[in-house]
Amino acid sequence: MRKPTLSLFYFGLWASSVLVLWQGVECKIYLRCELARKLRDQYSFDRSLLSNWICLLEHESELDTTKETREENGSINYGLFQINSAYCQEARPGRFCNVACEKLKGDNLAESVECAKKIQAERGFRNWKGWKRFCSNPQNLPDLKVACGI
Ligand SMILES: *[C@@H]1O[C@H](CO)[C@@H](O)[C@H](O)[C@H]1NC(C)=O
Repeated sequence: MRKPTLSLFYFGLWASSVLVLWQGVECKIYLRCELARKLRDQYSFDRSLLSNWICLLEHESELDTTKETREENGSINYGLFQINSAYCQEARPGRFCNVACEKLKGDNLAESVECAKKIQAERGFRNWKGWKRFCSNPQNLPDLKVACGI
């Protein structure tokens, strides 16, 4: 019975290293209410706009912080807010948000939030195709009071 025990041990070792590596990738898919609370409490999103943001995020990134998509014109949309590379610069801070595009992906939301708020304030939610298509009719917005109690 020595062999199976040993291989089980190695499997355990392998599984835990995979887990550690996987956690290192910093991917996170939020749940709707979890994210709504986080945006309100940690990032001071205006309560009255929160359902617009949640609708936008659900249709743009499915609440996945690592999402990256390419537009037909070759530009790239980054992260939870799917911010277009027109607003950021590859590898170093620059453009509209004065930020490196890579910082708009992953678990640290500080820079994405700042950039998304700036785009919304100056150009409106219409800037996001997902919002325009699915969220511009207020009847389609999630009722966060009912759904999340907030
Ligand atoms: C490419 O398309 C995206 C999405 O429509 C747009 O936001 C961006 O400004 C365009 N970039 C260029 C260089 O035309």
